[in-house]
Amino acid sequence: MDHSNTPILVAVAWPYASGSRHLGHLAGAYLPADVFARYQRLMGNRVLMVSGSDVHGTPITVRADAEGVTPSEIADKYHAEFVKDWERLDISWDCYTSTGTNNHKEVVQELFMTLLNKGHIDKRTSEQYFDQEVNRFLPDRYIEGSCPHCEYLEARGDQCENCGRTLDPQELVNPRSKISGSEPELRSTEHFYLRLSDFEDSLEQWLSTRQGWRKHVLNFSKGWIEEGLQDRAITRDLDWGIEIPVDDLGEGKRIYVWFEAVVGYLSAAKEWAAKQGEPESWKDWWENDEAQSFYFIGKDNIPFHTIIWPGMLIGNGGLNLPTDVPANQYVTFKGGKASASRGVGLTIGEGLDMFEPDALRYALAANLPEQSDTDISIEEIVRRINEELVATWGNLVNRVLSMVNKTCEGQAPPSGEKKDEDNKVLAEVDAMLLKASQQLEKVEIRAALRSAMDGAAAVNAYLNATEPWRVAKEDHDRATTILSTALEAINGVRVALAPYLPFSTTKLEEILGPISSWQRSPVIAGTPIPKPTPLFAKIEATDD
Ligand code: MF3
Ligand code: ZN
Repeated sequence: MDHSNTPILVAVAWPYASGSRHLGHLAGAYLPADVFARYQRLMGNRVLMVSGSDVHGTPITVRADAEGVTPSEIADKYHAEFVKDWERLDISWDCYTSTGTNNHKEVVQELFMTLLNKGHIDKRTSEQYFDQEVNRFLPDRYIEGSCPHCEYLEARGDQCENCGRTLDPQELVNPRSKISGSEPELRSTEHFYLRLSDFEDSLEQWLSTRQGWRKHVLNFSKGWIEEGLQDRAITRDLDWGIEIPVDDLGEGKRIYVWFEAVVGYLSAAKEWAAKQGEPESWKDWWENDEAQSFYFIGKDNIPFHTIIWPGMLIGNGGLNLPTDVPANQYVTFKGGKASASRGVGLTIGEGLDMFEPDALRYALAANLPEQSDTDISIEEIVRRINEELVATWGNLVNRVLSMVNKTCEGQAPPSGEKKDEDNKVLAEVDAMLLKASQQLEKVEIRAALRSAMDGAAAVNAYLNATEPWRVAKEDHDRATTILSTALEAINGVRVALAPYLPFSTTKLEEILGPISSWQRSPVIAGTPIPKPTPLFAKIEATDD
């Protein structure tokens, strides 16, 4: 993409407000989305980055039941926690909201009615599990049993966490109620269904034209369609959730959480537009042909974003389908899959209590599970921070700023007569910026960070070869030229790191000036360069 001002929707999975999110979630969706959004803004594009807390569904009610509180108490508690996490990490949302708003309800109900009126939603009677001991129907996560695909014993009624397959509760072998532990019985109940099969051909056609998508995302999605798209129930026997906008089913039913949460991408754009005082401006991202949309999600969310949500959009008509769904694989935390519901791995808040936000962002970005699952441990985070962030970048900045401060009377020096070696390192930095940009366009966020760090390493190598600290004793002019070159070089490297490291970027901007585009700019001679303080702290070893 070489034109600027393109509307780019950065759509990020809506976290269930059912428990703390862990570092795996951060690396899976929020951090890569934030890096991408910051990059696109530097490219001059119009980014709208949206998400919010997913406050409905059985993850919330199961938790509320377990703690003996109301679902809204759970949702409020974790929504507040997430908002605090995002602030501590400086995730650059344009709109972070929740599915509990009136606006969201209205947008969902309107979309429901459109699909109903167009005949893409119909009513059917089906068999659902019913717990006789507590006298209620059991939606998905209230039922556990063995996975029919991998025999995992604790598969949930909506999905097997072990093999990742989405499930219908009826597929579970030896089902049991999570409420009473008893074996549930099937009873008939009426629900609305989304006729996904209506969209099979259009979706297949659309997917076959997708370019540059991650292989695992495309293969998984095409595989789903090849198996034949099943119409899906989009209402549930629950009393927590968005009301069905027609009352033919009677009491005690709500819209299924997965039908409405994905609509959040649209409703959040509308909420943002209304708050701007330009209520129609959401259309720039949703109805404009030039607009692009990128959905940042974990791999367990793939079918909802590559099939179901696109199907709903096709059924509605007139709204843009995803440009790309760069879903990530999983992060394992020292082995076992990090999972909030199973209490494995550090929560985001715990991670932030242990590490500076930029340092944590760096270590996770360097380990993003873009191509395959990655393993993260505290030792690995510490190693990334000390051996890479501090050793290669933090120390470089500190070294250059200190030398300029000392050798050049506390000011950026004029650039002087450059030699080949000086021009070479600047050319390396410029080539790095181009390469990192090409990688970020393809949402290769981890690789682009590698490129940026290679750029920093090139500047370190330049300093080691030119030895300005030694030259300063015999040839002040030459030392000044080297330092001016080094200053220009780090001024370029910091651009490529800016999307990853917002806190230290702000700190450097106070000295070197604001970064306003994706390029290296000269440091104007005479700019005051005070004695620097380190950008990041090295983490000292502890004994436990
Ligand atoms: N709440 C879901 C989860 O945490 C993700 C929902 S993404 C959305 O897995 F698109 F549906 F909002
Ligand atoms: Zn399984």
